[in-house]
Amino acid sequence: MITARITVDPRGRIGAIDRRLFGGFVEHLGRHVYDGIYEPGHPTADADGFRQDVVELVRELGVTTIRYPGGNFVSGFRWEDSVGPRAARPRRLDLAWHSTETNEVGLHEFAGWLDKVGSELMLAVNLGTRGVAEALDLLEYTNIPGGTTTSERRRANGRDEPFAVRMWCLGNEMDGPWQLGHRSADDYGKLATQTARAMRQLDPGLQLVVCGSSSRDMPTFGAWERTVLAHSYDDVDYISCHAYYAEKDGDRGSFLASGVDMDLFIEEVVRAADEVGAARGTGKRIDISFDEWNIWYVDRYHDEDEATGIGNWPIAPRILEDNYSVLDAVVFGSLMISLLTHADRVTSASLAQLVNVIAPIMTEPGGPAWRQTTFFPFATTARLARGEAIRLQLDVPSYPTARYGDVRLVDAVATRDAEAGRSALFLVNRSLTDAVTVTVDVAGLGAGSVLAADTLADTDLDARNTLEEPQRVGLAPNASVALAEGVLTIELPPVSWTAVELAD
Ligand code: AHR
Repeated sequence: MITARITVDPRGRIGAIDRRLFGGFVEHLGRHVYDGIYEPGHPTADADGFRQDVVELVRELGVTTIRYPGGNFVSGFRWEDSVGPRAARPRRLDLAWHSTETNEVGLHEFAGWLDKVGSELMLAVNLGTRGVAEALDLLEYTNIPGGTTTSERRRANGRDEPFAVRMWCLGNEMDGPWQLGHRSADDYGKLATQTARAMRQLDPGLQLVVCGSSSRDMPTFGAWERTVLAHSYDDVDYISCHAYYAEKDGDRGSFLASGVDMDLFIEEVVRAADEVGAARGTGKRIDISFDEWNIWYVDRYHDEDEATGIGNWPIAPRILEDNYSVLDAVVFGSLMISLLTHADRVTSASLAQLVNVIAPIMTEPGGPAWRQTTFFPFATTARLARGEAIRLQLDVPSYPTARYGDVRLVDAVATRDAEAGRSALFLVNRSLTDAVTVTVDVAGLGAGSVLAADTLADTDLDARNTLEEPQRVGLAPNASVALAEGVLTIELPPVSWTAVELAD
């Protein structure tokens, strides 16, 4: 039997948890919007064509902010196509995903859907094929109450009040050669800065995100951040990080340790940002918007699904429809632990994505909607992780990995909402073979009783929820939990993710 001892570090306050840490991402990609959130004619569709079964699941998931409309899609997107009378909206080639975009759902419809799910809109502007002028036009359309041609156009299109969008991404993954309008760090840094200054001249209250690296493995990683921030530091609030993880070559041990990569990524970007900041000496701090993160078997997409050819531009093709396993969900849960462990500097994050496309929610046209395995760690963490994130001292054995060297078998973080008198623990056991019995000195959290302890685990690590068996995998109460004299004991099964809810 492996044992681990966890204590609450009295100096362990990491920081207040910004609710934007539990954001999502909707891109016009595959069956995300069309045949995903929007399916007129579906038995649950409302008068606007939005599936109510999906609305309910998105609400249950608890996503706070939703980034829109891309992703790679945004770098070829003309926002004007997506507003005004539907019959007059153009059909366009979407070069990013080799698809046809009908623009049937655009800015107004999407904002209406966000009202139904109760999330905040976070917009990205196109800095791939467009620039400052178009970003300003969009901002005028969304945020100016009226009295100008562009703002009156919004009102004529049925939206009297401004959309009042606060958070904006200055392009998407501009470091990636696959991106339309891909630029050098120097060129992008200048363009992003010009755009940020212009946008703030129009609306000084904006929160702006400059593009960081598309992954820690990019050859330009590090240098990209330093160069882009050297230009834009004074004009933006966040730099983005994007990271996708997958099991490769059957190396489950390294896959289970993906959180180590996310930790390093965040810490290296913070270091780069703080170095640029220190040289300026203004005391201003740049935070991280981890605005794309997930498990994604990207190689499967390229191998099997991609439409090609000059005459083949499908509408809403079935692409990037990863079906997540128990193993994937445990790694996913550990990534949420990494995000919380850096809550002082990661103050916004977007799970990429939300419905059908590398998503926690799946749908079938005319049929049901269901929760993937990854739904459970997200919904539970978003619900329980409130107040402050608290660092834990982990006295746990390690295991060897090919990618990251020796890695802790157990990772964990705590949260505490002093006002509500509630705390929570989030734990992952990365062992492929052994259960770990963990003792946690929860007295330091002020916790006196256990309200719930739920674990995601299965003897079949490949088990998944599917159309045929939508409830095969879920959370189960962890009956081993006990709390006596300020010490909580719980057994974590091999390859498992657990959340414990505590009351003072
Ligand atoms: O989320 C899928 C894609 O991943 C996004 O469009 C892009 O930004 C990233 O490469």
